[in-house]
Amino acid sequence: MPVTLVVGCQWGDEGKAKIIDYLARGADYVVRFQGGANAGHTVVADGERFAFHLVPSGILYPHVVCILGGGMVIDPIALAEEIETIVERGIDVDRRVFVSEQAHVVFPYHVEMDRGSETRLGASAIGSTGKGITPAYVDKVGRRGVRMGDLVRPRAELVELFSEKIRENNKHLRRLGVRPLSVKKTVETLLGAMKTIQPLITDTRIIVWSGLEDRKKILCEGAQGALLDVDHGTYPYVTSSSATVGGAVAGAGVPPSSIESVIGIFKAYCTRVGNGPFPTEERGKLGEKLREVGGEYGTTTGRPRRCGWFDGVAGRTVVKLNGITEIALTKLDVLDSFERIKVCGAYRCGSRRYQYFPTTVRALERCKPEYETLDGWNEKVNSDGRMELPPTAVAYVTHLEELVGCKIRLISLGPDRRAVIERA
Ligand code: GDP
Ligand code: IMO
Ligand code: MG
Repeated sequence: MPVTLVVGCQWGDEGKAKIIDYLARGADYVVRFQGGANAGHTVVADGERFAFHLVPSGILYPHVVCILGGGMVIDPIALAEEIETIVERGIDVDRRVFVSEQAHVVFPYHVEMDRGSETRLGASAIGSTGKGITPAYVDKVGRRGVRMGDLVRPRAELVELFSEKIRENNKHLRRLGVRPLSVKKTVETLLGAMKTIQPLITDTRIIVWSGLEDRKKILCEGAQGALLDVDHGTYPYVTSSSATVGGAVAGAGVPPSSIESVIGIFKAYCTRVGNGPFPTEERGKLGEKLREVGGEYGTTTGRPRRCGWFDGVAGRTVVKLNGITEIALTKLDVLDSFERIKVCGAYRCGSRRYQYFPTTVRALERCKPEYETLDGWNEKVNSDGRMELPPTAVAYVTHLEELVGCKIRLISLGPDRRAVIERA
């Protein structure tokens, strides 16, 4: 049973890409299973920084085959640009990147709709990344979407398809008060991306199934995180896909019986970009310090991330929900200079005490975190590659394990791919 799932366990940006890159060394395939260019995935390899949005984070290893799975929504223009950038940086993508015929297309009008509807929502906006994700998933479940497999057709037919879709959706843009798109220019831009994209589109289920038969190692890469999951996150302040294990089964086409382990990625504290409840948020100086030391600015939009303490209530819930078998804890080094570190073990709401994350935003907004304060370690856990955890840092890690009920097997102590320690 050779499948390992890797899922984000907070509100995204947990350092998934860094861990996937680390694990991909020993993998044959990396399959992204949901989301789109809303993801911003950073890998630092030998001093070089790479930012991926659509291409799976295993791309830096020449032996790894990367698949953009059927559960994704893909902006072909953004994908063509990303691939061209990767190639310019010397990475060979030939016969190594495949796009599922079942993935849905994000068109330029989806991007405009996303931005237009966020503007319309004003103060109650979700704070989306503006990459057209929700409108594309709405078209998918509304059974009027275009799939990547539909793009493999002669140019004349594509012109017809694109023109019809743009004209039809320009009506919706007008209704939203957004300027309609030029049909001619938009069709040309889309056609321009086809040369790069078309050869990559295939039935990726068959690649995955033959990998399973040959007992190849398959890593399934989740984007976003469980608290942004459309069902289990802080709805409506979520993304529009399933960022938990169920999404991997549907979106990568791997049967549940093939899954051997589920690695949950947690940051040693919490961040959130965009709006919605965040019980352990630190709005003052400590939050600012976490942001500055942790470099907490979005990879996709550059927005400052909201920062706060590790949330054991959310963590415990997400471990159960995903059946996490082991945890990779990232960014422990960011806490090096904190005298005291707070951790939330339960929420209090009047006389009620919550051990698990409430399912409604209404309840969440009334919850107050109950904190325990632990000693910091006040020294560098990673000093020029010498990685060692002082007893206070070990105590912090053990405390988190007890809070969420799962073993922490990997600890990341810096952005570089080598800055990882493995624990028995
Ligand atoms: P993802 O979306 O979950 O892949 O995470 P992002 O790449 O958006 O954000 C994580 C950020 O933290 C990136 O800038 C990484 O280079 C950086 N990072 C990852 N792991 C560590 C770590 O252990 N320590 C530090 N200091 N930075 C890290
Ligand atoms: P990675 O994969 C952090 C957030 C947005 C917004 C909400 C909805 O890098 O962890 P969307 O554009 O999906 O409709 O936005 O979800 N969001 C993310 N936050 N990391 C991400 O991806 C995110 N993808 C979406 O900020 O609050
Ligand atoms: Mg990110």
